[in-house]
Amino acid sequence: MKPVLHAVDASGAAQPSIPHYAPAGNECALFELAWRRRLPLLLKGPTGCGKTRFVAHMATRLGLPLHTVACHDDLSAADLTGRHLLKGGDTVWTDGPLTRAVREGGICYLDEIVEARKDVAVVLHPLTDDRRILPLERTGEELSAPPGFMLVVSYNPGYQSLLKALKPSTRQRFVAIEFDFLPAEQEIAVVAAESGLSPERVRPLVALAARLRALKGHDLEEGVSTRLVVYAAGLIAAGLRPAEAVLAAMIEPLTDEPDVKAALVEVAKAVTG
Ligand SMILES: Nc1ncnc2c1ncn2[C@@H]1O[C@H](COP(=O)(O)OP(=O)(O)O)[C@@H](O)[C@H]1O
Ligand SMILES: [Mg+2]
Repeated sequence: MKPVLHAVDASGAAQPSIPHYAPAGNECALFELAWRRRLPLLLKGPTGCGKTRFVAHMATRLGLPLHTVACHDDLSAADLTGRHLLKGGDTVWTDGPLTRAVREGGICYLDEIVEARKDVAVVLHPLTDDRRILPLERTGEELSAPPGFMLVVSYNPGYQSLLKALKPSTRQRFVAIEFDFLPAEQEIAVVAAESGLSPERVRPLVALAARLRALKGHDLEEGVSTRLVVYAAGLIAAGLRPAEAVLAAMIEPLTDEPDVKAALVEVAKAVTG
């Protein structure tokens, strides 16, 4: 099979039409191999560390349609597969996003899979072993996934409770990649590219992010995401004073506790001046 990772120039930079993604390791090659081997993929890592961007980047690089579903606690198997809907007095079967992806091929990306209802696992199981089928009980169909179909799911292990964990019988059907925040120099480059703020002015924001991430589990449920650092840098680039941008984009979103917030403001003053 010919290599398909053609849309990268000699310097390794992605061409403009491809959503920009700075890899941390071998995840791009791994994704492509998983796709070629027809293996489902599980991405785990904290919120805002690049999982969704990675999937968008790879879908474009591989020339695959991307069907994204943001899972929530009310999402059921029928929301994914489809249901009979009333149309002008008749009931008409309407495909859900998973069924559409299986019919059309391409990547079906279930974001925050652990949020979805338990019955979702039942429809994923026959799709994620070598059968690669999607039985549609209500229409009596049994769809075979075409070679270009790939299931990708993501979740944040940091949010996990016993109630919301992926069962081993589900997770052991996936090849998995762990994501984390990029090393400082790489995160500076990403935030500068995303926000338009110069790397020198991004540097203290990334230093602050590292300090705030170290507080995870003590005062904070979750450290500050790369997404929020991009927001802060973007606000500064647009003319907001750095202290105000840091408060609005990197502190307020993290906590509602006045004491914790006051402590974070002190940390921010110490790091960014
Ligand atoms: N490795 C990366 N390369 C490029 N941009 C990144 C990277 N990691 C994070 N980002 C930036 O952070 C934002 C949030 O990332 P996203 O993929 O939405 O996070 P997740 O899906 O893990 O919650 C992106 O929109 C992008 O601006
Ligand atoms: Mg995401």
